[in-house]
Amino acid sequence: MQHVPVLLREVVQILQPRDNAIYFDGTFGGGGYSKAFLDKATCKVIATDRDDHIIPIANTYKQEYGERFSFSHAKFSDIAQVLAHHEISKIDGIVLDLGISNFQITSAERGFSFQKTGPLSMQMGLCEESALDVIRNYKEKDLADIIYQYGEEHYSRRIAKNIKKHIDSICTTTDLANVIHDCMPCRNNRIDSATKTFQALRIFVNGELSELETLLEASISVLNRAGKIIIVSFHSLEDRIVKVFFRNLARSGKAELITKKPITPSEDEIKYNPKSRSAKLRAISML
Ligand SMILES: C[S@@+](CC[C@H](N)C(=O)[O-])C[C@H]1O[C@@H](n2cnc3c(N)ncnc32)[C@H](O)[C@@H]1O
Repeated sequence: MQHVPVLLREVVQILQPRDNAIYFDGTFGGGGYSKAFLDKATCKVIATDRDDHIIPIANTYKQEYGERFSFSHAKFSDIAQVLAHHEISKIDGIVLDLGISNFQITSAERGFSFQKTGPLSMQMGLCEESALDVIRNYKEKDLADIIYQYGEEHYSRRIAKNIKKHIDSICTTTDLANVIHDCMPCRNNRIDSATKTFQALRIFVNGELSELETLLEASISVLNRAGKIIIVSFHSLEDRIVKVFFRNLARSGKAELITKKPITPSEDEIKYNPKSRSAKLRAISML
């Protein structure tokens, strides 16, 4: 299923792609952002994605845009190495659209969704362990900490205990969801009680927060003056990291906030693409 880019108009409005500039699209995905930048100006885009399933899409971009587009199958935290590989020292913008793409969430075999039965993988790509490895190999206490820290789940201890109790019968996403449902208080809630645990395992398996922190630290030395960082995040843990980093950078006089408050999708966008509802965009410009 095709990925619908989130807050695309707002991202382009802030970046203001211009001729001869070089932009880094760290989360290429379905290529929606890269395409918008390349079509708006005669600029260059260096893109990365950790998921090898999107390489065929990147190849069609290489054919269409020639030397103006390059792609590396890499994590965005490797931005310095990726730019060095392309013999580029400075760039004019970094854009990240965090979270998972439609391609990933709708493929049962990737194991991201508890609504579809699939192997307990949750790996976006270039990962060391799967979600199944984590629930099998980590001690109950460590598992509870992961669920609490990355899922902000108050029932983390109870859930970790039940997972460990039934570990031999958990192989798939639905096995895990059922074990979580069985130990949670029954509530008439619209949000499935397995949601937070799945989020926690996904963040942990993919090292999502440390990826973001490493990219932000590396960004300062690769951006030109007036170079922008634009980040679209989908949960409070990521948004907090971006907010604090941008605030400190602005206070140090190295950059200026473009968004004092995060930009969120319009009601029309949410109606058209409900998956965009939790998105928050923050941006900064280097001084
Ligand atoms: C929400 S999608 C991006 C969609 C894209 N903006 C578009 O318009 O089609 C997020 C993508 O980022 C990738 N991704 C997530 N974390 C990454 C990381 N640390 N390094 C590289 N790619 C990452 C995922 O594999 C996924 O393809």
